[in-house]
Amino acid sequence: MAKKASTKTPKRANAQELGAQQREISVSEFFSKNRHLLGFDNPKRALLTTVKEAVDNSLDACEEAGIMPEISVEIQQVKGREDRFVVKVADNGPGIVKEQVGRIFGKLLYGSKFHRLKMNRGQQGIGISAAGMYGQLTTGKPVEIISKTSDDGPAEYMEVVLDTRLNEPKITKERQISWNGHAGTEVRIELEGHYQRGKWSPDEYLRQTAMANPHVSIYYRDPDGRELRCESATGMLPDDPKAIKPHPHGIELGILINMLHQTGSKKLKSFLQNDFCRVSERVALQICERAGIYENARPKRIARQEAESLLDAIKDTKLMNPPLDCIAPIGEEQILAGLRSNVEAEFCFAVTRKPSVYRGNPFLIEAGVAYGGKIPPDRSAKLMRFANRVPLLYQSGACVMTRSVQQMNWKLYKIDQPQGAMPVAPMLILLHVASPWVPFTSESKEAVASYPEVEKEITLALQEIGRKLRIFRNKQQRSKEESRKRKYIERYIPHIGQALQNILEFPDAERERLTEQLTRTLEKTRTG
Ligand SMILES: Nc1ncnc2c1ncn2[C@@H]1O[C@H](COP(=O)(O)OP(=O)(O)OP(=O)(O)O)[C@@H](O)[C@H]1O
Ligand SMILES: [Mg+2]
Repeated sequence: MAKKASTKTPKRANAQELGAQQREISVSEFFSKNRHLLGFDNPKRALLTTVKEAVDNSLDACEEAGIMPEISVEIQQVKGREDRFVVKVADNGPGIVKEQVGRIFGKLLYGSKFHRLKMNRGQQGIGISAAGMYGQLTTGKPVEIISKTSDDGPAEYMEVVLDTRLNEPKITKERQISWNGHAGTEVRIELEGHYQRGKWSPDEYLRQTAMANPHVSIYYRDPDGRELRCESATGMLPDDPKAIKPHPHGIELGILINMLHQTGSKKLKSFLQNDFCRVSERVALQICERAGIYENARPKRIARQEAESLLDAIKDTKLMNPPLDCIAPIGEEQILAGLRSNVEAEFCFAVTRKPSVYRGNPFLIEAGVAYGGKIPPDRSAKLMRFANRVPLLYQSGACVMTRSVQQMNWKLYKIDQPQGAMPVAPMLILLHVASPWVPFTSESKEAVASYPEVEKEITLALQEIGRKLRIFRNKQQRSKEESRKRKYIERYIPHIGQALQNILEFPDAERERLTEQLTRTLEKTRTG
């Protein structure tokens, strides 16, 4: 007989023992364990992410200060270490005040862009400190920063390490040095990485950055010493997009409660007017009345239940859409120029859609296509994705832009497409999502989430492209058909002349004249 299993379970931890194990987790501890969430899951991607975070910051800083960006990027392999690189990114931006350097480079979730709604490349306050943390974790080296906030005078040199347990910076070295004849910032990070040219490389990221930012000058030196220079093509900064306040229709309960607690306004009515966009005094009073809350109530005293009624009242109130001057598109002309600089195509077309709104956030979609010419045929179309002018190279499958291209019925536009996949054609598609708050799927900012409003706008832009492509393809097909027929007829014209001569017995000269005339008539009727 089989032995009966014991019903007693071995002793495990009790509540007290479990309680003793509880500990706060700092954000940097969390992200050092989950570095894949920030784009540092393998050495190749880590190298790209580091370049990307530093360059995006430099471009943001220059544009915000109204300076034409001149960016220098150098990647050097560490001597004797195949797996180690030094990334050096320098800009001609406004520089960083000395007191902020430590926290910017040595503290996660610290930045100037998170608490405002402005179309920037960065938004989370985590990018460059995460790159520094990755470098420190893999090589033990600090981040080196040079910052100069005016054209003359010395620059500050600092070395910063991040205490991951506390998410606090430590400045390990600082001194004044003489550097450059102008203000700017230089960041130097040593990290474990892998360099490979091609699809997911820093080279490709910089090439696409130059394409979507034709105002920028970039100097790049890769680990093999090869140099690339992209001079500014426009010589002009794009319009400075305005910062906006949140739109009430995009707000969730938790955020509303936080805003009520943090506001500087003393009365509910003025809180609604001052802390949101599109709320006039009349609308604010209407919302208070609907919610059944006294208009002069102190925002900080509003309880959770009341906040819920307030949110319901906001949802029931008709409001104007958020202002749309907070978005600076790349523009159809620049997209076309970018596409043409990238490939030799027969046909190019670009469209900038009107701004639209998702969850109270304005956004705008742009699309471009290059078709035919020297683009290899019989292959899946190539898609270039951009968010706020930043090329997105990874996580293509998780991105609403890729999904929208795959879900569109390209056959309607005479383009081959295996079911639910990328169209197969000599085609390069460019998509750009611009918004003061891009809904990324994760902190690594490589894929845009599928909000229905965003998806719809992308599809509309793609359909516009599809229609133009169909017209071009029809024309192309007509002219092909015509030239096929023409060749056919041309081949027979001499035989017709000969046959007529045989029947009518006219001289050779007459036959030649007739053949010539027939050819001319054919020339005249030729179209396309
Ligand atoms: N080269 C630079 N010149 C001037 N200021 C800079 C520079 N690099 C970073 N900063 C400042 O440091 C802050 C933190 O940068 P960080 O990359 O960590 O976050 P972010 O750019 O705000 O957002 P994200 O995490 O999305 O990149 C920025 O908000 C910016 O104010
Ligand atoms: Mg950044």
